[in-house]
Amino acid sequence: MQPADSGASSPSGHRSAHHSPAKPLCAGAEAPLKGRLRPPGDKSISHRSLILGLLAKGRTTIQGLLEGDDVLRTAAACSALGAKVERLGPGAWQVDGCGVGSLLQPRDVLDFGNAGTGTRLMMGVVGGHAIEATFDGDASLRKRPMRRILDPLTLMGVKVLSEAEGGRCPVTLRGSSEPAPIEYRTPVPSAQLKSAILLAGLNSPGRTTVIETEASRDHTEKMLAYFGASITSTPDGAHGRRITLEGRPELTARDVIVPADPSSGAFALVGALIVPGSDVVIEGMMMNPLRIGLITTLCEMGGSIETLNARIEGGEDVADLRVRHSALKGVDVPAERAPSMIDEYPVLAVAAAFATGETRMRGLAELRVKESDRLAAVAAGLDAAGVANRIEGDDLIVTGGAGKVAGGGMVATHLDHRIAMSFLVMGLASDKPMAIDDASMIATSFPSFQPDMERLGAKFE
Ligand code: S3P
Repeated sequence: MQPADSGASSPSGHRSAHHSPAKPLCAGAEAPLKGRLRPPGDKSISHRSLILGLLAKGRTTIQGLLEGDDVLRTAAACSALGAKVERLGPGAWQVDGCGVGSLLQPRDVLDFGNAGTGTRLMMGVVGGHAIEATFDGDASLRKRPMRRILDPLTLMGVKVLSEAEGGRCPVTLRGSSEPAPIEYRTPVPSAQLKSAILLAGLNSPGRTTVIETEASRDHTEKMLAYFGASITSTPDGAHGRRITLEGRPELTARDVIVPADPSSGAFALVGALIVPGSDVVIEGMMMNPLRIGLITTLCEMGGSIETLNARIEGGEDVADLRVRHSALKGVDVPAERAPSMIDEYPVLAVAAAFATGETRMRGLAELRVKESDRLAAVAAGLDAAGVANRIEGDDLIVTGGAGKVAGGGMVATHLDHRIAMSFLVMGLASDKPMAIDDASMIATSFPSFQPDMERLGAKFE
């Protein structure tokens, strides 16, 4: 058994993402994609399983944990806050937790690397405890807005001891042993924000309520209920939710099975749709209704996506998807779908580049504050590949080449794993290969991307 460590080399042997040298990579069109692929464990659920393990009393076991750098950072933070975190084998971990209210003061800076989710959720955890912690990460993380988290935490009694300009990392917080119960309407549809408030509310003597106008992924709510918290979620308005958590539950350690990440499966899914002759089965894809906006959209575009063996695993809807090359057509993607596919727009833009006609993706303001400014990065990547596109307000409009994309460009990835993988997938079907300036960040979410895609027939060099 290996303890989770917070140093530069992780239990799976990957060097810390933001210390890795840039690794250019190129993808060219060779052969159809064929065969089966199981994407790695869901990143959102992986972070949460470790965090809930920390906050529960007893031993939580986790199967199928994503061993990407982002999640390993969260494992290291859980150790720094007092949990005993051990890796038993590939994807198999156990966490001996401390219980709500009993976390330790971390000795060092909590370094989250590239991970916004780990940072923001842990700010909530620390916020509900009378401890001080400093949150920091790589150049990408240091650009991301944390004010959205610090504002509600301040209302709950958390003190922001220091922050970089505009509420950015490094941020030092002193949490409260008695966070005030609040009712908070989130100004942006963000599961990270919702989760930070709920996690801080765990140690509140009263009820914490979060209201969201657009429902975001509900993994925190589901997992809190699974670990024994009393939490309700009811519809609010046309697309929203009102979530109420009773403070100070006794969380009990559980066994967690992590389903395959639909945001990682998305790359093989789009690859199979755009590379002629492809026929791929993606196994164990989580089909949580708040995560499948991409699949809905690709079906509307005419994608051949067959759902096989639908089942429930680890409390989530799961299915195998058979995906075949398809002639896609442009569609209008409504803004209210954005939270259910927020991480999938870069790869949807790649699908749109191969479609016939225009695809308009509406309401993408949040893409500007992801691991990179994804709206700008996608537009620049499409430009490099010779794909007509424009940004109008917060909408991205892509004019497809009816199965043909020139390609041949070099894409700047800006420390963003999803920009890297999306444009490599484009290269599998474009006339000329696509190159990216740096593939090293792919290890944050999908360490086996290259060998997994190569097994399907992709060629990278
Ligand atoms: C995540 C929520 C999303 C998503 C991120 C993971 C989560 O961010 O982009 O990759 O696990 O809660 P926002 O909640 O900020 O939209």
